[in-house]
Amino acid sequence: MGVAVVILLALALLPPPPSATAACSTEASFPSNRAAYAACADLPHLGASLHWTHDAASGDLSVAFVARPAAPGGWVAWGINPSGAGGGMPGTQALVAAPFDGNAWSVRTYNITGYALGPPGPIAFPASDLAAELAAADGRVAVFGRINLGPGAGTLNHVWQVGAAVSGGSPAPHAMGGDNLAAKGQLDLVRATASAGADDSATEKRNIHGILNAASWGILLPVGAIVARYLKTFRAADPAWFYLHVTCQLLGYAAGVAGWATGINLGNESEGVVYATHRAVAVAAFALATLQVFALFVRPGKTHKCRAYWNAYHHSLGYAVVVLGVVNVFKGMAILRVEQRWRTAYIVALFVLGAVALVLEVVTWGVVVRRRRMAENKTFNNSGGSNGHMPPHYSM
Ligand SMILES: *[C@@H]1O[C@H](CO)[C@@H](O)[C@H](O)[C@H]1NC(C)=O
Repeated sequence: MGVAVVILLALALLPPPPSATAACSTEASFPSNRAAYAACADLPHLGASLHWTHDAASGDLSVAFVARPAAPGGWVAWGINPSGAGGGMPGTQALVAAPFDGNAWSVRTYNITGYALGPPGPIAFPASDLAAELAAADGRVAVFGRINLGPGAGTLNHVWQVGAAVSGGSPAPHAMGGDNLAAKGQLDLVRATASAGADDSATEKRNIHGILNAASWGILLPVGAIVARYLKTFRAADPAWFYLHVTCQLLGYAAGVAGWATGINLGNESEGVVYATHRAVAVAAFALATLQVFALFVRPGKTHKCRAYWNAYHHSLGYAVVVLGVVNVFKGMAILRVEQRWRTAYIVALFVLGAVALVLEVVTWGVVVRRRRMAENKTFNNSGGSNGHMPPHYSM
């Protein structure tokens, strides 16, 4: 069952199919005061397209960027990132279009220095002729502008994005779906082509981190806890439950440590962005889980007088790890602003586990009560009989 849940989750986590708008072929004409553009490219993410004309002599790049905001009342943005090969948000010189002043679309420029947008202001290239307007009945917005790149411009890193809302006159942060994070690429002004970003590895790393941790801390460890709590009630499952439990927890721990390492790596790479709670919960869960693994080696025998203490310790730590793990999966999904279906898939998986646990709780209580009654009868029938106690492992 745990495997099925993991597969279900993995399926839900697959990236969405690219949207199929062939925008360049449908956006042939812009308002009459805009000349036709020399080149156009359908950009590989977010259903956006870019029309442009580059005048090598003057260094002017005239663009019309077309995209649909993530929701009505949202914003669209396009920019050039001259800061380095990776592209991405920090360093981008951006044109952001939104209905900043009520209903009319307008454009502001942003010199973006980090993973927060910051205030509007001058950008590294002289920008003129800025305008934006609704370009199609389906809500697509066109952003126009002329940017002077200076002489000798060849290949540019460009970045684009769409957002769902403007709050307090400032564009609210965009979603962190795969399409959003991959929305960058190269613009070859000489050959008049656009190509996908060379570096999609950050998105890939985030996805691997999410899947590893959701599957291990979020699914396998809770499954292992359920196995231990309920299967051991059934005599036929002894000692199989123990090996199943240890297998689940060791697999979960191994995958969890790998996921944990990817998280540390992501944290080191995204300078200036700190998710203190997510990190603290992760460190606590990792420490407690490591203690659990070592506790296995110092487990007293079943009849040892310290076994009850060890059990109490092992159970409370175990439940704490499960709670921390599940909490942090939700925290992580909030940080990555994953699409709702990822969250729904995980909640469904938790519901399935919860339902299974509930049924097993009822069934095992029935078994324990029946055994207790049989044991009492026996004691009563052969007075002085020796079988009046619950076997030690039912009392947990
Ligand atoms: C953009 O911000 C960077 C970092 O603060 C600064 O060095 C640069 O001069 C700014 N560019 C413009 C055009 O203001």
